[in-house]
Amino acid sequence: MVMVWTPQLTQDGSYTFFSEVFGETFHSVQGAKAEAFQKFVAATGLADKARLSSLRLLDVCYGLGYNTAAALETILSINSDCQVELYGLEQDPTVPLGALVPELLVHWSPQVQVILSQLAQAHTCQQKGLTAQLWMGDARQRIQQLGQIGFQADAIFFDPFSPQRCPQLWTVEFVQATAQCLAPSGKLATYSRSAAVRTALSAAGLCVGTLRPPAEPLPLPHQWAQGTVAAWQPDGLMPLSSMEQEHLHTRAAVPFRDPTLNDEAAVILARQRREQEQCGLESTSAWRRRWHIH
Ligand SMILES: C[S@@+](CC[C@H](N)C(=O)[O-])C[C@H]1O[C@@H](n2cnc3c(N)ncnc32)[C@H](O)[C@@H]1O
Repeated sequence: MVMVWTPQLTQDGSYTFFSEVFGETFHSVQGAKAEAFQKFVAATGLADKARLSSLRLLDVCYGLGYNTAAALETILSINSDCQVELYGLEQDPTVPLGALVPELLVHWSPQVQVILSQLAQAHTCQQKGLTAQLWMGDARQRIQQLGQIGFQADAIFFDPFSPQRCPQLWTVEFVQATAQCLAPSGKLATYSRSAAVRTALSAAGLCVGTLRPPAEPLPLPHQWAQGTVAAWQPDGLMPLSSMEQEHLHTRAAVPFRDPTLNDEAAVILARQRREQEQCGLESTSAWRRRWHIH
């Protein structure tokens, strides 16, 4: 099996991988484990939801399994009786397998280590309180199958590589198919604050909120958000600032499209560029100048 990634240490002491194919790390270099807890688990309000008797989770782009692991650690620490049903979507089976080395596993409890191992090796894990499946293949096809079986997630972790590197997983069509798997009171969280991504989430009928950076140290203008949270209802979402709302009226807000859920990245990028040229919206650089974003 060809592995096209290499391990890389991040600033919180946890490892991520660097993908040779996408030219990007799998997590923020400021902290892979911290990112899983802050931008996905906390952003979807999982600590509160864990008090329920059952929870359904969808991990889009499972990768090393950190978002799943952080979610399970959180749920187990609050309510070990909670029945969890989890689906992970991932294209490259070498990635979850690559995460099964002591330096990476040491960050998780023994119970979660067993779950990560079973998911990576057998792509399924059935044990008391947990039914989990890792569906391999292109998430664009897998998400449609998940919709067909009627899966409704209380929390969706939406974690593809960045929109410019992996536009096929940020399109209006893929986001729409993912939204069909979001329960009426569920929340979807992503690290992306891109205007094109927020437009795609709105086009799917979701309300869009921001994920503010920590107040300390005082964030600089370009650090206006560390992600996006979406839900069917606006309650519990942090409203977008005026600056973020204006961002949605610039060229950067023209979303990616992939009508057949099959196009190559280059085709999707070229389609967006053409639409941007014809959209008549304000240039994003003018918006940046107005808000002193460098
Ligand atoms: C940013 S990483 C996800 C990191 C992951 N959530 C974690 O905690 O380790 C993106 C992941 O998407 C996977 N991927 C890329 N294209 C995909 C596709 N079309 N379908 C499913 N997975 C894909 C990559 O193999 C990679 O594991």
